[in-house]
Amino acid sequence: MSNAKLLVVGELNVDLILNDIHAFPQLGKETIADEMHICLGSSSAIMAANSAALGVDTTFCGVVGDDQFGDFILRELQSKSVDCAHVRKLAARQTGCTLVMSYGQDRANVTFPGAMNALTLSEIPFEEPAVYQHLHLSSLFLQKGIQKDIELILKKAKAAGMTTSLDLQWDPAGQWAFDYARCLPYVDVFMPNESELLALTRAGSVGGAIEIIGPYLNTLALKMGKSGSMGIRGDRQVTVPAFEGKQFVDAIGAGDSFNAGFIRKYMAGAGLEECLREGNLMGAVNTTAAGGTGAFSDRQKLHETIQAFLGLELNPI
Ligand SMILES: Nc1ncnc2c1ncn2[C@@H]1O[C@H](COP(=O)(O)OP(=O)(O)O)[C@@H](O)[C@H]1O
Ligand SMILES: [Mg+2]
Repeated sequence: MSNAKLLVVGELNVDLILNDIHAFPQLGKETIADEMHICLGSSSAIMAANSAALGVDTTFCGVVGDDQFGDFILRELQSKSVDCAHVRKLAARQTGCTLVMSYGQDRANVTFPGAMNALTLSEIPFEEPAVYQHLHLSSLFLQKGIQKDIELILKKAKAAGMTTSLDLQWDPAGQWAFDYARCLPYVDVFMPNESELLALTRAGSVGGAIEIIGPYLNTLALKMGKSGSMGIRGDRQVTVPAFEGKQFVDAIGAGDSFNAGFIRKYMAGAGLEECLREGNLMGAVNTTAAGGTGAFSDRQKLHETIQAFLGLELNPI
């Protein structure tokens, strides 16, 4: 890779993941989970950590509380070679946590946002314009301090010469207050999954949704779970199938790992299909270990997993 830098702006929290849960939780009752993992959570952090694992020079901009979860997050990011110079500890805040109840391909999450609400435009290092090539932003609706200024943030990134990508993620409030007509023209790669795209556009089908946002899109990278992904750029539309995996553990963070793979290729100037294929590959790799970063932690194992999916000799990453 070149020395091009990725700047990820977003939320930071801890995931407490429960797997193999015997039944759905019910008020007044108790059920057992056979597995628990405590790991780096948040879509943005998983994307950043896995980008760094893939060899991209990655800086994170975010805030945590001055507490044990905050220390854990900083240690995790640093151990994955993410530059944390722009992660600030806020004494008056608690670091957030997500309880993830994982049921195979899907999961039910409860999030305490904590410090993530405190991240605002003023924390983003726009004064270092020559340093960063690309800005990735995720989980807009969880970050009230960012949400209100999203149009300005995207404009500033473009004015600073960066390319941009946005993964809105789900809106827990169901309001989907994102002005796509105003904002998407400043987003180079828009990266929703199917249900998020439908909720945002209030369309009944993916085709209908694409008609609605089409006029404002640069590139769409639509994540479709086991069906892979679809890309749209100008008049071109391409679907790339998912990689078949045998070793499925959970799909937590698959979309964030897809983003890491896609953006790595995008920053290197690859074409749409190659970016989508790399996204699918990293999404599939993600599903072979617990949580969003498990499959990316050990370099040797990561290479072996990629190799097994590709069934080919690896290009060095
Ligand atoms: N079970 C799976 N097997 C293989 N690839 C998968 C699987 N689940 C997800 N992926 C890959 O990861 C990508 C992102 O996952 P998806 O579930 O669509 O995103 P999100 O996590 O944002 O909902 C998919 O486009 C696909 O390429
Ligand atoms: Mg997602």
